[in-house]
Amino acid sequence: MTTYSFAQPQALTASPAWKALQAHHRKICATSLRQLFADDPQRGDRLAAEGAGLYLDYAKNRITDETLDLLEKLAEQCCLRQHRDAMFSGKKINVTEKRPVLHVALRAAANEQIYVDGKNVVPEVRATLARMAEFAEQVRSGAWLGYTGKRIRNVINIGIGGSALGPVMAYEALQYYSRRDINFRFVSNMDATDFIEATRGLDPAETLIIICSKTFGTLETLTNAHAARDWCLEKLIDKQALRRHFVAISTNAKEVSRFGIDTTDMFGFWDWVGGRYSLDSAIGLSTMIAIGAERFSEMLDGFYAMDLHFRHAPLRQNLPALMGLLAIWNTNFLDARTVAVLPYEQYLARFPAYLQQLTMESNGKHVTLGGANVDYQTGPIYWGEPGTNGQHSFYQLIHQGTHLIPCDFIGFCQTLNPLGDQHDELMSNLFAQTEALAFGKSLAQVSAEGIPDWQAPHRVFQGNRPSNTILAERLTPYSLGTLIALYEHSVFTQGVIWNIDSFDQWGVELGKQLARRTSPELESSDEPRLAHDSSTNALMRRYRSLKKE
Ligand code: F6P
Repeated sequence: MTTYSFAQPQALTASPAWKALQAHHRKICATSLRQLFADDPQRGDRLAAEGAGLYLDYAKNRITDETLDLLEKLAEQCCLRQHRDAMFSGKKINVTEKRPVLHVALRAAANEQIYVDGKNVVPEVRATLARMAEFAEQVRSGAWLGYTGKRIRNVINIGIGGSALGPVMAYEALQYYSRRDINFRFVSNMDATDFIEATRGLDPAETLIIICSKTFGTLETLTNAHAARDWCLEKLIDKQALRRHFVAISTNAKEVSRFGIDTTDMFGFWDWVGGRYSLDSAIGLSTMIAIGAERFSEMLDGFYAMDLHFRHAPLRQNLPALMGLLAIWNTNFLDARTVAVLPYEQYLARFPAYLQQLTMESNGKHVTLGGANVDYQTGPIYWGEPGTNGQHSFYQLIHQGTHLIPCDFIGFCQTLNPLGDQHDELMSNLFAQTEALAFGKSLAQVSAEGIPDWQAPHRVFQGNRPSNTILAERLTPYSLGTLIALYEHSVFTQGVIWNIDSFDQWGVELGKQLARRTSPELESSDEPRLAHDSSTNALMRRYRSLKKE
């Protein structure tokens, strides 16, 4: 099959590959990782793969070679290869929004050709990157001055969801490479505290505001954008000043100009880029100002290297496909409901939050592409914190609790900030955690250590808890790009198997609609007649009465 088709031949759970995996699970579910490693001394070398500079150790998953064979059959049955090719060639695989899904075009090589409605989009992508680079370099060099002639010392990114999480995560991840004489701040929340604290102590005459919104219709972003405009005008008075202090990143030129930003001060992108996949579009402008155009382009090269790997590596060596299929195994056959992402790298502190939108907005779906209710679990809950911090808070539950929580450990062989032997210490914690999770500590071992009988059960680690370990040489813009693309394509792989639309996000609409109805009721000075359910009515009445006081 070469053409794109979203219809699966039969219900996933009734399909031969699924049933074979269920039977296989029944067969191996009592086999422990301890046993699997004892039976095969080469397991650690064999169940590992390398691509685009990343090394993935997946040996500490509860799988055998047969599991991998069966997962590969599942991928074939679900036409993973064909769906992947459909995405890369611009087919409208976001079926509910009737759009292509082409974040991969944002980092494609200049000589690639990717067509949307008969037009090669790569030249437009490149042209936007060139404009961004020119602007970013002007800000960095001081050639771009504020209205009163002062240099730009502060950059504030206003946006939410994909228009915030990518920029803030990448800024923090690449802070080592970033300009230290420019302050970068990020405002997303409707809570005014976010804006007030971000602007505290800053001079509008030295501040560049980047309004990021794909739709330019998001309430939080527009509210903060208006607050920013008022904040600037209070000091700079003249409306003409805004042109030196505001730029917009959007697909919606009409709304940008309605807001009052000249569209020549706008950097565009396209409706075939999902918000949570938009970091390498103009949404990454703040990152580019922070690290410079050249390093931004190295980040895109990293994304591209992983794209090529995903397209061309055979499945057994294909990192995103393997991670995606292992997530299916853990979620649907081992019944895991969450995944912990544990970067042993302080600069990646916001990476789990970024992945939450990427994974959960993409695969938190309950109907198939054809609209039928699924009868299997879809996207698990992603969460996490950097190591070693997490070890002193929630790892207790991962080691000895009753939930099975597959973990992704992420580490770098070289640190950017050498200090004594701290990096060896950090990494030895990472390796030790993966060992402890997999192999645990039996009652016999505990007793042999002389632990009294009454306490021994409390000190037993059951082990047999799965994890992946991802290693890279060093955190660079390039390796960050490969890491993000790894997860993007893993999410894609999972969505294909589950036969869902990983690229829409209708689930965020209902809350927005209801809030629109509720806000006038909270704001009105007359007592409104509330027609919500009794719980919501009572909460709103209480809020109104206390708010008055
Ligand atoms: O939360 C829903 C959502 O549409 C996300 O998908 C998106 O990243 C975010 O809102 C922000 O949207 P926009 O960039 O259009 O302001």
